[in-house]
Parts: sequence; structure tokens; C-alpha cells
Amino acid sequence: MAKVTIDNIEIEVPEGTTILQAARMIGGDVVPPAMCYYSKLDTSGGYCRTCIVKVSQGSAKDTRPMPKPVASCRTPIMDGMVVENMISPDLLEARKGVVEFLLINHPLDCPICDQAGECHLQDLSYQHGLSKSRYEFKRREFEKIDIGERLSSI
Ligand code: FES
Repeated sequence: MAKVTIDNIEIEVPEGTTILQAARMIGGDVVPPAMCYYSKLDTSGGYCRTCIVKVSQGSAKDTRPMPKPVASCRTPIMDGMVVENMISPDLLEARKGVVEFLLINHPLDCPICDQAGECHLQDLSYQHGLSKSRYEFKRREFEKIDIGERLSSI
């Protein structure tokens, strides 16, 4: 078993548990958002970076902080690790940047989107994103492709 402290809450978890899994054991605001991690798929996670957290103490043996935010879904707990999620203003600022990058080429037509109201990206944007994008370049656009009468492409 290994002890970890996440947002000042201590929990003991089995060796090999990731920071995200430990946070989910605690529950509530401690849990970072996770857009690409699905626990039943071994290779999921580590791509979107929405789950980043700040590790302010690497372990009980090596108390140095990790030099940059880490993906909590792919980072295993070390005994004595101290993690900051919602209590770190720097981390929340970094997460805003991640959300901004995710939305750069995403259509911003939420009011007419079928998924509106049930969209994890929309929730993430409301909870962790900036109120507007600083991105000024033309968005990627795609030509419609005819893929049959029963399916339509965007
Ligand atoms: S959930 Fe996407 S990188 Fe962790």
C-alpha cells in the first residue's frame, strides 16, 4: 500500500494505482477531468492532457516536486506523494490552456449541436476553460463526404 495526499486529503491505495484512480477513490472536486481515459481499455489515457495535476512532492524518499504537470491517468502513485489539483492556481491556469487547445478546431455551434447538454467537452469548457479563445487563425474545415444515405458526415 502507498499513501498519497491529493488536495490535502490523504488516502492509502494499492501499489500501481494511478493518481487519477486514487482521486476517484476520494471523489468530489479532487477528481481531475479525464477526456481520453477509459478504465477498461489498457491503452487509453495520456493523450488529451485534461487530467494534468501538479505533483508538489514526488515521494517520501524523494521529496522534490515534479518539474511540470503530469497526466494523472498515466502516472502511478509513489508512497508519500503529494498532489495538487483544484488547490493549485498554476495548475488550473495550465488546464485552461489545455482546454483552449482542444477547442481550437472544434466547432463552436453548441446551441444547434445534437449533443449539447450531454457533451463532456462542453462541460469541461464551462468548468475549466477560458471564456473566449485567443486563437485568431482560420479553423480547419472539411468538405462534406457522401458516405451513404443513412449516414451523414459533417
Ligand atoms: S485523461 Fe487524457 S491524458 Fe489523462
